[in-house]
Amino acid sequence: MSDSAVQVAIVGMGTVGSGVARVLLQHPERIARRAGRPVRLKRAVVRDLEKLRGVDVPAGVLTTDVAEVVKDRDVQVAIHLIGGIHPAREILLDLLESGKDVVTANKALLCEHGEELFARAKSLGRTIAFEAAVAGGIPIIAAVGQCMAANQITAISAILNGTTNYILTQMIRENRTYAEALKSAQQLGYAEADPTFDVDGTDAAQKLVILTQLAFGVRVPLEAFPRRGIDRLELADARYAAELGYTVKLLAVSKLVGGQLEMHVLPTLVRHHTPLAEVHGAFNAISLTGDVVGETWYSGSGAGQLPTASAVLGDLIDTVVGRARLTFQHLEIWNDTPPFALQPNDKVVSRYYLRFHVEDRPGVLADITAILGRNQISIASVIQHEATQPASAGNGHAIVPLVIMTHRTTEGHLQSAETELRKLSSVKQPSVRMPVAD
Ligand code: NAP
Ligand code: HSE
Repeated sequence: MSDSAVQVAIVGMGTVGSGVARVLLQHPERIARRAGRPVRLKRAVVRDLEKLRGVDVPAGVLTTDVAEVVKDRDVQVAIHLIGGIHPAREILLDLLESGKDVVTANKALLCEHGEELFARAKSLGRTIAFEAAVAGGIPIIAAVGQCMAANQITAISAILNGTTNYILTQMIRENRTYAEALKSAQQLGYAEADPTFDVDGTDAAQKLVILTQLAFGVRVPLEAFPRRGIDRLELADARYAAELGYTVKLLAVSKLVGGQLEMHVLPTLVRHHTPLAEVHGAFNAISLTGDVVGETWYSGSGAGQLPTASAVLGDLIDTVVGRARLTFQHLEIWNDTPPFALQPNDKVVSRYYLRFHVEDRPGVLADITAILGRNQISIASVIQHEATQPASAGNGHAIVPLVIMTHRTTEGHLQSAETELRKLSSVKQPSVRMPVAD
């Protein structure tokens, strides 16, 4: 082992940064053994010096001036743990320009500016390691970027947002309200500083964009594929899904279908007792299929202080020993290979869960099934419970929920059926639809 220490700085000492500092300071021998030399925390950048961080950093380490890190030639690796795009992008570029390798957990930044940042790092002979950006403590970037290198990956099907999965688990299994569950996810350090991106599906979509680039060599813009979160999910739908033998999960999917790439992030019905249905709390899980290995599974804590710190510190060690370059090389190989085109959304094939609010009167079910039939949508099952409320449609008829499970159909057929259904006065909007994972 070399005696000369690697000097590192943490830029952003919030939930994750404090965890990284804690492990670095508590286990210096372990980190040194794995890195082949001692690792010394020289600087840690925050906005507020007075804030309690649950970790005793040595005197003189904390600073509010990121330039002290940028200008410090002794700092070789910067651990970049501030969220959002600005000034995170500019800070990361400054760190690279000043000759430092960077470890980051910022998926929002890599999703939006990854191309620019990776190209800049490459031209400067530096690396950006980003294991913690996807699925928290699960080593999925290494799996896709290195361990599956002999495969053409054919499918990724994953739960990639810990906050959402925690909220769903709390609501469905513990009977807590959405607001209570979200608050608790924030207190536990799972949620982003602004949790909107967690619950509206953006965070999972940003992670899927990163995985898709590594796995399929295609940089797909966030706006190019369907994305919805759980922020508008009604508990009633989770209950109907359970009645039908399914649980609702926010599923991120990227898969090859007929040589094209199908991608989406949507609340999805997953059959009870299958591996993804059994992922609870802030856990994430990823099913990764390769043409050589077949299906593989990864699961573990997808958010939170120490699980994320584990991935960050793994990256730090990989950077010190030079292994972080391997993922960069993997990104490179795609330059020579024709990328896959995105499958047009109307061609996507799935089963669907549909819920309508309908007037409880003769002929309504027949009208709906006729429209579905005309659009080549076959019905697999129907639930309609008796009205428990007095009449509420204003014309003497009660409004009741009608749940329909379809057989496989295309998104295009479903969209044209929905256009026709919206014209029926007996069907009240909004209606609900979710794909079914089969
Ligand atoms: P956080 O708790 O909000 O911490 C952010 C830190 O950055 C704070 O210490 C803050 O300083 C500092 N900061 C923000 N803007 C700054 C600026 N302009 N100059 C200097 N310091 C600045 O966030 P986090 O949860 O640790 O997340 C950090 C990154 O990791 C994000 O990109 C997030 O998406 C990603 N991530 C988080 C998790 C998780 O479970 N939390 C998991 C995986 C990835 P003050 O403390 O003084 O305000
Ligand atoms: N807010 C993110 C989540 C953190 O809940 O999954 C991990 O990236």
